[in-house]
Amino acid sequence: MPVVVSSDGNAPAFKAKMTVYVFVCVVIAAFGGLIFGYDIGISGGVTAMDDFLKKFFPTVWEKKQHVHENNYCKYDNQFLQLFTSSLYLAALVASFLASAVCSKLGRKPTMQFASIFFLIGVGLTAGAVNIFMLIVGRILLGFGVGFGNQAVPLFLSEIAPAQLRGGLNIVFQLMVTIGIFIANLVNYFTATVHPNGWRIALGGAAVPAIILLFGSLIICETPTSLIERNKNEEGKEALRKIRGVEDINEEYESIVHACNISNQVKDPYRKLLKPASRPPFIIGMLLQLFQQFTGINAIMFYAPVLFQTVGFGSDAALLSAVITGVINVLSTFVGIYLVDRTGRRFLLLQSSVHMLICQLIIGIILAKDLGTTGTLGKPQALVVVIFVCVYVMGFAWSWGPLGWLIPSETFPLETRTAGFAVAVSCNMFFTFVIAQAFLSMLCGMRSGIFFFFSAWIIVMGLFAMFFIPETKGVAIDDMRERVWKPHWFWKRYMLAEDDHQDLEKRT
Ligand code: BGC
Repeated sequence: MPVVVSSDGNAPAFKAKMTVYVFVCVVIAAFGGLIFGYDIGISGGVTAMDDFLKKFFPTVWEKKQHVHENNYCKYDNQFLQLFTSSLYLAALVASFLASAVCSKLGRKPTMQFASIFFLIGVGLTAGAVNIFMLIVGRILLGFGVGFGNQAVPLFLSEIAPAQLRGGLNIVFQLMVTIGIFIANLVNYFTATVHPNGWRIALGGAAVPAIILLFGSLIICETPTSLIERNKNEEGKEALRKIRGVEDINEEYESIVHACNISNQVKDPYRKLLKPASRPPFIIGMLLQLFQQFTGINAIMFYAPVLFQTVGFGSDAALLSAVITGVINVLSTFVGIYLVDRTGRRFLLLQSSVHMLICQLIIGIILAKDLGTTGTLGKPQALVVVIFVCVYVMGFAWSWGPLGWLIPSETFPLETRTAGFAVAVSCNMFFTFVIAQAFLSMLCGMRSGIFFFFSAWIIVMGLFAMFFIPETKGVAIDDMRERVWKPHWFWKRYMLAEDDHQDLEKRT
């Protein structure tokens, strides 16, 4: 049965079915997210393995033997940290290159490039015999992440029917969470395999990379990307195939219209700096800052310490990985279910309150208990662990997935790949900043770090309330008319652009 796509009764009704083919395309493309998640999860485990440290970072390993750690001050080596973060730096640069490939060659080849970078990167890191191979491998993995994270969310948003776009796009984040979960399990089990456990852990990323490489041979290119590159007939065919209905003319025309405008823009980065691009541009960048300053990666990193304190002893790492990992994955399904029903804003606002409460409770307990005695009592630690889990839940259905979804759906076609590239690189930059600074911040600020993140959550909640408009159900090429022009604040930039165009026409 065709379902009619409409947005609050405003947007044009495009006919579409949820076809098996779209489902297959979504799942295959989202494997790019799985590799990203695996890379996020695996580094922490590998850099804690003695065999790995002795081989590549012997001085770090030596030092580590003699340091005294406590609950706040974990062993912190900026150089080792830089090894982990080099991936994010490489991805930051690569996303700009990926955006050019995405526009010139299409979303599908960009994903294929990503999988090739991943495979070579995996080969070099898992097979590394010296630090040079390791670092080059890591950089190539970063290129894979840059290319994958650029192409996959855009691909998903473009092939999805408007009223299912949120849910289908979040399959990317779902795969990220599954990747993190698998990596944590792999870390736990390979840590006991000597001396090559780390090679197995790093090599594991080859599995999703191969699936992405071969899978991407059967998925289609997005109609938008085909039409943008003047392959109109192919684009029409692709649209018919993914929508599963014959009557796709209206949607086809709207894409052609968007492509005509897009093809007049020669320099999308210059266009990004124009007032009319400001709303999605500013929101796209700030979402990345906010996503990382929720403190998610810091909290997930800190979770094993808390589990240990609760008394899980040597099983703490595994239990923490399983519990937070499963909660992260399952709660993402809640996001998939709700995002096209309640809308994006509801999730952002609900979770801001939800995460703020969790952070404050964690901060207060740590300040009171750990602050005075240096150790956390078991009951208090248990409460902290519970609130860590509740916090992860809130992130998983809101700022996590929406940080990728909103920038992939709000740029007009002419600035879509360029704008999204800036968003991806901002994400990588802020992930890098947190990865690089978190341990020192925790050691210096102690429980204060949770109040630091709480303050950020208040800022992002207010920003969402006033500046992030609802995009649920609006056709992707219709945002300007339906979303930005009516918005109380952003409309000023749209009107300025209209005036400018009028003036240009007259002169
Ligand atoms: C973020 C990652 C984070 C992950 C947690 C992603 O959306 O970009 O930094 O580790 O969510 O699930």
